[in-house]
Amino acid sequence: MKLPDMHRPAADAVESLLTYTDGTSRTVFHTGVEVPFPEGRLIVSRTDLNGLLTHANDAFVELSGWDREELIGMPHHILRHPDMPKAAFKGLWDTVAAGQKWHGYVKNLRKDGAYYWVYATAVPNIRNGQIAGYTSVRRKPSRTRIDELIPVYRQWLAQETQKAAS
Ligand SMILES: Cc1cc2nc3c(=O)[nH]c(=O)nc-3n(C[C@H](O)[C@H](O)[C@H](O)COP(=O)(O)O)c2cc1C
Repeated sequence: MKLPDMHRPAADAVESLLTYTDGTSRTVFHTGVEVPFPEGRLIVSRTDLNGLLTHANDAFVELSGWDREELIGMPHHILRHPDMPKAAFKGLWDTVAAGQKWHGYVKNLRKDGAYYWVYATAVPNIRNGQIAGYTSVRRKPSRTRIDELIPVYRQWLAQETQKAAS
């Protein structure tokens, strides 16, 4: 399935080519505009075992900027921001695929190129003793923690870029 294209949202938007774990790639546009996490809301999505979106609540749809019809059936990496290191998502996937709960901070990309930070809790959905899919619930993140993590994620990303080039 092909991800919907992003259109350049503003003349000063930065263009990045993202290559995903499944081997596909696409060009995304990002701006320095941050959209704050909406007060008092929870952002919920569910995926199948392969990370394809099966459910997105209204808050998810509103904050991501994509229509629900554009999201369902698409890989969850439709939200991946170029500033996020792959290592963060490896931690998420290794944890939930092992049947455990994962918590973490994620910077997500909106359809309009802006970004939003979330504090996410991802869990496996167990049916008849088997993992049937995954759910993630996001809460308002701590600004202090975001400020601590920005340099950490930047360093991980630099290491990944270096490794890819060597
Ligand atoms: C339940 C669940 C929720 C996820 N939520 C996000 C998310 O909000 N943003 C994101 O970029 N990736 C999220 N991911 C991880 C993506 O599946 C993917 O691993 C990530 O975007 C990196 O892309 P890539 O592994 O295809 O390169 C989630 C995965 C699962 C299972």
